[in-house]
Amino acid sequence: MNPTPADETARPIRRAVCPGSFDPVTNGHLDIISRASALYDEVIVAVFVNQSKSSLFSLDERRAFLEEVTAPYGNVRIDSFEGLVVDYCRENDIAVIVKGLRAVSDFDYELQMAQMNRGLAGVDTLFMPTNPEYSFLASSLVKEIAKWGGDVSALVPQNVLKSLNERAGAAG
Ligand code: PNS
Repeated sequence: MNPTPADETARPIRRAVCPGSFDPVTNGHLDIISRASALYDEVIVAVFVNQSKSSLFSLDERRAFLEEVTAPYGNVRIDSFEGLVVDYCRENDIAVIVKGLRAVSDFDYELQMAQMNRGLAGVDTLFMPTNPEYSFLASSLVKEIAKWGGDVSALVPQNVLKSLNERAGAAG
């Protein structure tokens, strides 16, 4: 039987989270975020606050880059969290974690986390294969290349590029 309009309005909002460090956001992240935004009603890009790991960009800077590059997608919003991703999901009524898989090397650890997160809180993980164009791409590599003056213009959004070259160059 086809759903009536009343049934449709009763449907719960399908909300997903894309968690990560985003230090900084790359074109690979953006590929996953944009594809997730086509699958879910609302996508929250949640920047993980990791006190024990030093980052090149501050939390505010990482959030600002993300705000700007995700502005074209009407259903994506940026947030940050400290602690377990499953607690963040519980507090924000999120049923799904979306993760990009670049290569089989990502799989072992991601599978372990996905199974742990499902066991801890019943939160599922959707693995999305990255666009092959970005299968080698990682924020850590981008920072290292920029540090030594390499060209990362095809790997990060424009708003990140200038700051990255200044910041990574000064640190190198
Ligand atoms: O961009 P990153 O650094 O690869 O992202 C890793 C992140 C933040 C997604 C992952 O470490 C995470 O979910 N951290 C939050 C703490 C947590 O819930 N750990 C998983 C326990 S199974």
